[in-house]
Amino acid sequence: MAIALIYPEGNSAAWVGHFKKFAPELEISVWPEIDYQERFELAATWYHPPGELAQLNGLRCVASLGAGVDHVFRDPHIPKDVVVTRVVDEGLVREMTEYVVMMVLNHKRGFARWQKHREQKQWVADPDEKIDRIPNPTVGIMGLGRLGRTVAEALVGLGLPTRGWSRTKKAIPGCSSFFGADQLNDFLSGTDILVCLLPLTPETENILDIALFSRLPRGAYLINVGRGGHLVEEDLLEALNNGQLGGACLDVFRKEPLPEKHPFWDHPDIMITPHSSSIADPENVARQITENYHRLLAGEPLLYQVDRRLGY
Ligand code: NDP
Ligand code: OXD
Repeated sequence: MAIALIYPEGNSAAWVGHFKKFAPELEISVWPEIDYQERFELAATWYHPPGELAQLNGLRCVASLGAGVDHVFRDPHIPKDVVVTRVVDEGLVREMTEYVVMMVLNHKRGFARWQKHREQKQWVADPDEKIDRIPNPTVGIMGLGRLGRTVAEALVGLGLPTRGWSRTKKAIPGCSSFFGADQLNDFLSGTDILVCLLPLTPETENILDIALFSRLPRGAYLINVGRGGHLVEEDLLEALNNGQLGGACLDVFRKEPLPEKHPFWDHPDIMITPHSSSIADPENVARQITENYHRLLAGEPLLYQVDRRLGY
């Protein structure tokens, strides 16, 4: 019995080291050097080639090496009775909270203009500059799960009007809860800074499109930290160019790395970060997955299972 590690674009050797720290006896086969005659109870993956998991004998659990599982479910051949787990990590939540707070404040205080002035060696203090300060923007968070909830709590703590939209109703002190498709319009109509922290599923794919942007107040700002597949890229460009959106901060993209010739790079109102808003501690990830492996062998329930029906 062994685990299969399938991480085509990552540093597999480093991951083997992390796993061995917690379970030195663990036998780990690293893709593409996998002996398909062997039995694999668990596969730890990040963007495995579709079809690969169906070839593993005895597979009972697919463990995502990150919080998102869209990369697992994009494979239509995952065996039906296999359990899918994901990472839940305090450090990941903390870093995401820092990132969203940083970008919200960045926009609220108009940091970009200081940056521009600095590049031109200009001293332009605020009282001299007739800028439209946004006095008290309402931040709307799509997705109030492990990440979105803590982000909402931090924004409430800063005194910013905060609202959230999720599939089911939430009770987060200080944060207005909107839920389901029926309440999306109301949620959007009062949102000045929109943060996407949804998982990518068939229901949420392409959700950030021109129709959604048109329901936001004119000049609203977008922060997408969910997945590139949430955003219709041409619609973002159209909404920025016609002034419906005032700017965007993007951490995730349909194609990563973002191709050199992509129009986002040259757009003055788009801030780009390279899918780095938050990173889980690899040791913590390895600890969780080895614990689940031992639970699997002992017939105990696994931690951090996702709902295969909902896709997150
Ligand atoms: P969770 O599964 O904990 O939360 C998901 C939230 O989205 C829940 O509140 C859920 O609602 C809501 N949701 C799901 N589907 C819908 C829908 N159709 N309509 C309305 N609301 C919906 O996920 P996490 O908070 O842990 O992570 C969210 C995503 O963040 C990940 O899937 C990943 O894509 C992304 N991520 C990005 C990172 C980065 O570096 N940029 C790092 C880590 C994660 P309900 O609670 O009612 O079920
Ligand atoms: C994740 C991510 O899902 O880093 O963990 O995007």
